[in-house]
Amino acid sequence: MYALVTGASRGIGRAIAQRLAKDGYHVLINYRSNDAEAQHTLDEITAAGGQGELLKFDVADTTACQQALNDWTEQHPNEYISVLVNNAGIRHDELMVFLEPEDFEKVIRTNLFSFYNVTRPLLAMMVRKRYGRIINIASLSGLKGLAGQTNYSASKGGVIAATKSLAQEVAKKKITVNAVAPGFIQTDMVEGLPEDMLKQLIPAARFGQPEEVAALVSFLASEEAAYITGECININGGLYS
Ligand code: NAI
Repeated sequence: MYALVTGASRGIGRAIAQRLAKDGYHVLINYRSNDAEAQHTLDEITAAGGQGELLKFDVADTTACQQALNDWTEQHPNEYISVLVNNAGIRHDELMVFLEPEDFEKVIRTNLFSFYNVTRPLLAMMVRKRYGRIINIASLSGLKGLAGQTNYSASKGGVIAATKSLAQEVAKKKITVNAVAPGFIQTDMVEGLPEDMLKQLIPAARFGQPEEVAALVSFLASEEAAYITGECININGGLYS
């Protein structure tokens, strides 16, 4: 069984890749540029007795995604990717008045177009095989909004809406499509945020760990989660519900 995790060279993506490998999947570790960090994810997986491989492409680039995924499929004629975790994402926070068009577009391309770019090439095979799991890593910001994140909130809100639509398109084919909306999770992405101040706002009084997000993704990826689809599940220590 093959699972693809985008942006798996570090952070939440790495934890998800490790968890799915532990669950018995052969994990395809997607990343854009950091060969060493991606290799580190793979080394940790193999050291723990799991299986995986690197699959380098930019999720914001429609042609590159199609090329990489078509090549993989050609090289594995008897296999298919049954679990897709759309995790890669960036943020570029700026108040709207200072937000340059390229910084609006870059975030939307990386976080929202990527959903289309990576999911579409894999969907036909899931439909043919009549089984699939698609899990999109959204954000609290896509539900609640956050000042300084109009670009990021729009991208994540878009992913949540697309999740609901696609879930309805493919439910009959036994493919589930869900989103996960983390609050503050301890990764490089939250580096520089005022953690002590923010923790006071979180009922659980701490940031979450990438492994906690990975555990939720692991369940949604399992066969047991067959009747959950079109959902967006919060994981935020009680910050928002
Ligand atoms: P991170 O910055 O540590 O990792 C993001 C990963 O995505 C990196 O491996 C990066 O190389 C990859 N990536 C970025 N652009 C890419 C591209 N164009 N093509 C391929 N890979 C690319 O961030 P973190 O925290 O692990 O975030 C993972 C996901 O979780 C993101 O979608 C993020 O928006 C979301 N998230 C994170 C939260 C947090 O508090 N850390 C909260 C809510 C959502």
